[in-house]
Amino acid sequence: MGLHVGIIGSGLVGRVHLGAMLAHEAVSAVSLAEPAAALRQKAGSELSIRRAVADYHALLDDPSIDVVDICLPHDLHHRVALEAFAAGKHVLTDKPISNTLPEADEMIAAAETSGRRFYVALNQRFMPVHQRVRQLLDDGTIGREFMATLTVIGSELPRMSDPDSWKGTWDRAGGGVLADSGTHVVDLAHDWFGPPTAVACRLARHVVKTPNKADDTCVLTLEYPDLTVALLLTYGAAGQGWSETRQIWSETGSLHVRLEDADPMVVWKDGRRLPQEVTHEPDWWAWSVGLGLAHALDRLADDQPFAVDPSDAREALRTIQAAYRSAELGQRILMAEYGVVAADTAEGTAR
Ligand SMILES: NC(=O)c1ccc[n+]([C@@H]2O[C@H](COP(=O)([O-])OP(=O)(O)OC[C@H]3O[C@@H](n4cnc5c(N)ncnc54)[C@H](O)[C@@H]3O)[C@@H](O)[C@H]2O)c1
Repeated sequence: MGLHVGIIGSGLVGRVHLGAMLAHEAVSAVSLAEPAAALRQKAGSELSIRRAVADYHALLDDPSIDVVDICLPHDLHHRVALEAFAAGKHVLTDKPISNTLPEADEMIAAAETSGRRFYVALNQRFMPVHQRVRQLLDDGTIGREFMATLTVIGSELPRMSDPDSWKGTWDRAGGGVLADSGTHVVDLAHDWFGPPTAVACRLARHVVKTPNKADDTCVLTLEYPDLTVALLLTYGAAGQGWSETRQIWSETGSLHVRLEDADPMVVWKDGRRLPQEVTHEPDWWAWSVGLGLAHALDRLADDQPFAVDPSDAREALRTIQAAYRSAELGQRILMAEYGVVAADTAEGTAR
């Protein structure tokens, strides 16, 4: 008997999840909850879906569904996850875990109380090129690193400019590009370098004119004792397509990743280029989402722990919330003093 997965939401990412779930051998059936009739009917007519319903409670009430997969705007992750755990389901959700640290803590506690599994899709960790970066850092191949940059140059202008879209709103998305795509690169920085000791952040809305939207541009510095990491993010780019890079410099070499390249990685050591062979898809986004979901389904089916824990997603949110606080105050924030335990999280929601 395989897993019956109930996907909630079939927007941009939900459509990718639908395809990945239907393709996975551990999945025996996929059902969908989507209130938008056109999207629900499109999925129902094009894909082999067992049930397509408007109200997700019908999936929570269905005893044949083992796993709920949340592909919803950020403000709904918390409520739907709690309801799903209460209904005895395993829960997968796309990033971020939620909009606030108290919500994240409640979700993690609910998973523990229910005895169900909880997975937050931080898909970029599963890209082979990112796993190779981690391996090269762990092996000390390029020497002691002292500086890194991670960039997301994206365009979300249609949704960011639409006052009725949840994308980039303070109340529903929890912020703009930093709260959203920033989750991926903050999580990669944590995976590669560990938690930062301090953060400093500047945010701007340079391009998007819609008043209810948050940052379209962000510069975030993560401080470590012997390393400075700079994240440069925007949703305001136009025309040239989505582009993401990661670069790391050490005393004896450097490492350069451009995700849109067929051969995405260049590594230098002592003035020589070290050849790298990495499996990669230049059209990487949906592929990477599928890699992360395949991992979750494999581990669920084998009853093995996930390589990424919900506490990792909580830690990414903590750094991002501290960064928003830094931008608001115009000050560095020391991470040892910020949002470490649930009781400390009043700060976490401050804007
Ligand atoms: N991992 C990635 O690379 C990646 C990329 C894009 C989006 N995401 C994440 O995926 C999530 C969804 O983002 P998106 O861009 O697909 O959003 P979207 O707006 O395109 O899709 C959301 C869908 O949820 C549906 N919905 C809203 N309320 C609902 C409800 N009560 N019950 C059922 N369905 C409901 C909407 O009708 C819509 O179809 C977000 O958490 C986002 O951050 C992740």
